[in-house]
Amino acid sequence: MISLRALTNIVLVLGIIWYRSGSLIKNAILFRSPFPQGYIANGNYTSDCTTIRDSAHKTEDSLSSCEDETFWELHDAAGKVVQRPVIVSCDPGRRAWNTVMGPLRNPEPHGGLWLYVPERAPGKESKSLLSSTVAANKAHRITFKNYPANHDFHPLGVEVWPSHAGNSSNLYVVNHARERTVIEQFTINPAKPTEAVHVRTISSGYFISPNGLALTSPDSFYVSNDHLLTRRLPIVGHILPLIESVLGLPLGFVSHVTLNKPTSTENGAIAEHFFAKLFIPFANGVALSPSGDELAIVSTSVSQILFFERDTATGKLGQKNDVVHVPFAPDNLHYTASTSGGKRHELIVAGHPNFPDLTAVAASKPGATAASWVATIVPKEGDKRIAETGFDTEAPVSISTKIAKDGTGWTLKTLFQSDGVEDKGGFGSSTTGLRDPDSGAVYISGLYAAGGLLVCKPGSGIAKR
Ligand SMILES: *[C@@H]1O[C@H](CO)[C@@H](O)[C@H](O)[C@H]1NC(C)=O
Ligand SMILES: *[C@@H]1O[C@H](CO)[C@@H](O)[C@H](O)[C@H]1NC(C)=O
Repeated sequence: MISLRALTNIVLVLGIIWYRSGSLIKNAILFRSPFPQGYIANGNYTSDCTTIRDSAHKTEDSLSSCEDETFWELHDAAGKVVQRPVIVSCDPGRRAWNTVMGPLRNPEPHGGLWLYVPERAPGKESKSLLSSTVAANKAHRITFKNYPANHDFHPLGVEVWPSHAGNSSNLYVVNHARERTVIEQFTINPAKPTEAVHVRTISSGYFISPNGLALTSPDSFYVSNDHLLTRRLPIVGHILPLIESVLGLPLGFVSHVTLNKPTSTENGAIAEHFFAKLFIPFANGVALSPSGDELAIVSTSVSQILFFERDTATGKLGQKNDVVHVPFAPDNLHYTASTSGGKRHELIVAGHPNFPDLTAVAASKPGATAASWVATIVPKEGDKRIAETGFDTEAPVSISTKIAKDGTGWTLKTLFQSDGVEDKGGFGSSTTGLRDPDSGAVYISGLYAAGGLLVCKPGSGIAKR
């Protein structure tokens, strides 16, 4: 019988011949780039970056293998953001249960959510909105209250609505549970920030393979569906998702969902659903611009970020504003304020520079490692709007060696790189990058990283403390 491996290779080759442009194959499939152990823009990886997993806890019980992360913005009564803790979704058992990449072996050990609280800037400690019992510079496991018994928890995308003057926030998490993928709704309050209260499990025929979330209000969100042909399908589930990915078949989609109030007596949680965008190859991370007039969607299998015009009143997406190519298989992305005084927001995109390596790590091949690459999409301001060569000049592996020119409206800058060799201090399989606009701290989650979450604070020397 033909082995799965042989079949995989055949599909890969056919995919290459039929569909791929040469540069895509080279960048995300064939070649390994000579990444350093670690590089952080404007900082020193060795002294400014550290993983925050507490080594006193067993790997199975601690923050490791993290997919998504989100800032939980805490606004004071005047509407100013005074704190930005990070909520991270991790699944230490991912090597036994992954509905996106396989395998589907054991859904039993549950993943979890962790809260990382950065220390306050000197002099600002007293203004803390978070309960003072939660120690800073540490990750705390978030316990669940009212969570249904015997209901799995395997989190992917996570997003939380900001808290205003100490009120509770709605928190949503994509959960690829045993039977089907659902979205869990919780509330979480800054006075008791290590406890999430379960509100309900949202299930829908429209949730084929939910992956990323972008909230549009406390009760509505966009959700990406990465594949139409999922691994859950009997027998063909081993091969069809792979074909869909490798051939870049445009079968992923993004929906917009508006919920009924939890107290509503109407049937079901969903008040309204519409398809925001159909036919996107491997739709993965989604991000809403701060002004709400643009939605960015990651298309992993073709290494693109798609930008769509958005009607802020209806949430409907209009024409495509731009397409940005990146030299890796992008995963999640987030808008972030410019650090160079630019008026327009930048976007941080994290991903996988060698997809076969990531697959080998997912399959627990001995010695397999997967590199990390996180880039910033920086809008070009002013009149100097021409595509240029020779950009991203400071990175160990410059994006300009993979992609000939940047865009007329944007350039690309490497924020983080690592060979992913964790035994030697690297950080692998980057999926999400966040940057705190006030402190400059950068947070990177790693899908299979034993260290879970990497925190880098350029110039701080946090690794030595
Ligand atoms: C980075 O920090 C390490 C550890 O403190 C130090 O040995 C190294 O020289 C620093 N590298 C640079 C380029 O400053
Ligand atoms: C908290 O307050 C904000 C601002 O008034 C409001 O938009 C939000 O819905 C409130 N959240 C909850 C869970 O009540």
